[in-house]
Amino acid sequence: ESGKLWGGRFVGAVDPIMEKFNSSITYDRNLWEVDVQGSKAYSRGLEKAGLLTKAEMDQILRGLDKVAEEWAQGTFKLNPNDEDIHTANERRLKELIGETAGKLHTGRSRNDQVVTDLRLWMRQNCSTLSALLWELIKTMVDRAEAERDILFPGYTHLQRAQPIRWSHWILSHTMALTRDSERLLEVQKRINVLPLGSGAIAGNPLGVDRELLRAVLNFGAITVNSMDATSERDFVAEFLFWASLCMTHLSRMAEDLILYGTKEFSFVQLSDAYSTGSSLMPQKKNPDSLELIRSKAGRVFGRCAGLLMTLKGLPSTYNKDLQEDKEAVFEVSDTMSAVLQVATGVISTLQVNRENMARALSPDMLATDLAYYLVRKGGTQAASQRCAPPGTRRCHFARLMRPLGKPCSWPRPKGLPSTSCHYRSYRPSAVCSRVM
Ligand code: ARG
Repeated sequence: ESGKLWGGRFVGAVDPIMEKFNSSITYDRNLWEVDVQGSKAYSRGLEKAGLLTKAEMDQILRGLDKVAEEWAQGTFKLNPNDEDIHTANERRLKELIGETAGKLHTGRSRNDQVVTDLRLWMRQNCSTLSALLWELIKTMVDRAEAERDILFPGYTHLQRAQPIRWSHWILSHTMALTRDSERLLEVQKRINVLPLGSGAIAGNPLGVDRELLRAVLNFGAITVNSMDATSERDFVAEFLFWASLCMTHLSRMAEDLILYGTKEFSFVQLSDAYSTGSSLMPQKKNPDSLELIRSKAGRVFGRCAGLLMTLKGLPSTYNKDLQEDKEAVFEVSDTMSAVLQVATGVISTLQVNRENMARALSPDMLATDLAYYLVRKGGTQAASQRCAPPGTRRCHFARLMRPLGKPCSWPRPKGLPSTSCHYRSYRPSAVCSRVM
């Protein structure tokens, strides 16, 4: 006998390369706690179904607590034979309490076990990510509130477009993150469905009360089709897509801040805590935190695309390919946690140079406002009758410039007398030509 959970029929030894290739314990050990949690619930289900006596159940529950304690204290010793977290925990349980341990897996398969574990783990982790995302959103909103009087150029096509508030820019990114937060709630809802009791493929014929399992594990609902439940990973794909879109938003914000932090813009300065220096060029301060946020987006997209590739050709129900879902989930969860915390740190410590921002506002950026002004005044002709030459008190353009703290300096084309008002020299742009 091979000494494996599934080894009864096997006589030959597994090739050591295959052993390593097949094993997932190096990463699915992350699931130790939820695996114990799921097993404890399942033993209650077995007891209620009359498949375990009360004494056996208590013995199993105590043994599982001991297993958890060993993991928590770092004393759990893995065997070379431990293929995954499920086999490792059951092997240890047997060492601790003896043969009764074998009854725990009655009617259960690792197929419904692993997907239950993963949902439990992701449920917990998504709450943490949701809290971190809210922390970032709150930091951004606070900053927007505190700095709402700061003006700077808004860009389209990276060309100066219209003057905007700095808070308008911050909140534009906050809106995207708020949608991400709503989306995560949706994903959490679909994670929170219990597959335990689905067996390997065709359900549990032993009368295990799935409603009891649901209540003990505090799931919102139970899955209704065992073939689907053991093999669908929609909730993983949705999580990875959620992360991808959230990273898209964070990456775009990072890109703006990288640009705004260059000497050429000089609008913001990243705090030392989130920058690094150059070994060769002492004058430099590099926005590594923001560059890494931008680059992690690529990694996360890769995981999302990778999982979909894995899923798309699978025949019905569980196939070992599905073992690969966990590394994607763990890596992306770690990445999101780090990125959200770094982004919060970057935003809360960012220095804003309001003088440089104001200096970058140029009069031509008010062309659109001038057009709006004309619309309100009934067109060029009507307006020019009440307008005075540039710079004088009744000059309309000077009035538009006042909130920016600038004098009127609308360039007058050569040849026009200095007594001419702006409206006569105003050259229609696409938008203005409609109102002139
Ligand atoms: N380690 C496996 C996984 O992560 C557990 C399920 C294995 N099931 C099986 N029938 N071989 O997917």
